[in-house]
Amino acid sequence: MYAPATASQPLPARPPRLLIVDDNRDLAANLADIFEPRGFVVRFTPGAQEGLALALAEGFDLALVDANLLDASGADLLPALRDASPVGEVVLITGHATLDSAVAVVRPGAFQCVARPFKLDELVATLEAALRQATLRCERDHLARQLADSEQRYRDVVESSTVLVVGIDSRGVMRLFNRRAGELTGLTSEEAIGRPALEVLLPAEARERVQKHVQATLAGAPAGEFEAPLLIKDGRTRTVRWHVVAASAERPAARDEIAAYAVGTDVTDRRALERRAAEAEALAHMGTLAAGLAHEVRNPLNAALLQLHLLSRGIARVDTAERDPLLGRARIVEGELKRLERLLSDFLELARPRPMARETVDLAELLEEVTTFQEPAATAAGVTLVRQIGDARAVGDRERLKQVFLNLLVNALEATPLGGVVTVSCHCGVDEPEATVVVADSGRGIPGGTMDRVFEPFFTTKGAGTGLGLSIVRQIVERHGGTIDLQSVEGRGTRVTLKLPTPGHAL
Ligand SMILES: Nc1ncnc2c1ncn2[C@@H]1O[C@H](COP(=O)(O)OP(=O)(O)OP(=O)(O)O)[C@@H](O)[C@H]1O
Ligand SMILES: [Mg+2]
Repeated sequence: MYAPATASQPLPARPPRLLIVDDNRDLAANLADIFEPRGFVVRFTPGAQEGLALALAEGFDLALVDANLLDASGADLLPALRDASPVGEVVLITGHATLDSAVAVVRPGAFQCVARPFKLDELVATLEAALRQATLRCERDHLARQLADSEQRYRDVVESSTVLVVGIDSRGVMRLFNRRAGELTGLTSEEAIGRPALEVLLPAEARERVQKHVQATLAGAPAGEFEAPLLIKDGRTRTVRWHVVAASAERPAARDEIAAYAVGTDVTDRRALERRAAEAEALAHMGTLAAGLAHEVRNPLNAALLQLHLLSRGIARVDTAERDPLLGRARIVEGELKRLERLLSDFLELARPRPMARETVDLAELLEEVTTFQEPAATAAGVTLVRQIGDARAVGDRERLKQVFLNLLVNALEATPLGGVVTVSCHCGVDEPEATVVVADSGRGIPGGTMDRVFEPFFTTKGAGTGLGLSIVRQIVERHGGTIDLQSVEGRGTRVTLKLPTPGHAL
């Protein structure tokens, strides 16, 4: 072969081969004189079987075959020759130049038929044309193989990538959905491909915003990055940073073709860490000042509570019609002062945590105590409190853990409407490093948009809430060397899972 080179990979460079299967030695010698100076290896044999053996052993780029060989018809030999060298071309020499025989032999795959008698230069011109054809075919096969290889490489890269890669057509239909996208969303590619991509990937409230990004990119705007919640099969979300690029800048994509690729990175954990760092920093700054201030406020507050108590006792002794309304007012003031006191204690706990005890805490007994304490509140709210309390122990501070369970239980009860269920459970296998405590409710759940914020100090959706409950819970759990996981589906409920180190496994 003439060894045409493509930009990416040259063809294997070996000398081109001309195989002559003809009993005319003079013709073979003439052709060898012409082609050998051009770099060809010329093979000559008068017999069909030997010609085929040569073709099988060495291949050929060009074969010149007599149609009327002694031991076979050249036309019969053709299919076997083609099999031996699929990219080579075969030129047949016939004895009778009738149109019929020419058509008959050309059909099974010869490049051309040359009828005797012929002029040598005509034969050479035909051979050269056949050779060009073979070169083109070889190049085309090579390019097709390269294309298939590069498509496979591209598919491997996309599939093994640790980022999400999705492709959408011009109508927004999902056309590509890589393995990572499947892992994160919990969807199989069959469940995702063919469906509207925005519906598959995003919660309703984020779709319009993202669609604008995608449309701008398709309209030629520079590819920009943006963050959006990624919808998980079970209804939860994660945060993904997306980069959208148009598939081809030169021409608009056909109807079913991929028009844009979106490459996404899961930044949920990174964002959570950044938020935690920012919160910790803010608390540290506020801490010293605010803790001092809180101490100062606490003294007059306690004095006011004491005076109020004395005042109430004084009023109770006076026998006038005003007595009960006055006592009612005093109780309201007392309630508000106590709320203020609780806010101060919570805030102090968060800003300046006191040292923690490290003792073995019987979680089962503690949870019994906390649930019993909250039972009347659950009954009043028409909520069923279910206990699934198994043996479990942890190492830590009993009072702090009580605060944790109370906060979680109060949150669960406050979120659950009449007729709902709150389940408190704990368990721990023998020798397990962690005990598990779960507080789950069938309440209103937490909307995807506020999920990230519930652990922020002072974040509350309640009129009378301080928004410090979950911040304190997380701080205490982490100071125990434990973890907290909050899962929530809006309208279906919330489940908080705590893992606490058990005796013998605490740090
Ligand atoms: N089980 C739950 N179900 C639904 N929403 C919840 C649940 N737990 C917490 N939340 C949401 O998280 C917010 C923050 O909770 P957090 O306990 O920190 O503060 P709070 O309950 O509002 O006030 P407090 O400081 O009195 O506890 C709540 O206002 C509520 O919107
Ligand atoms: Mg709370």
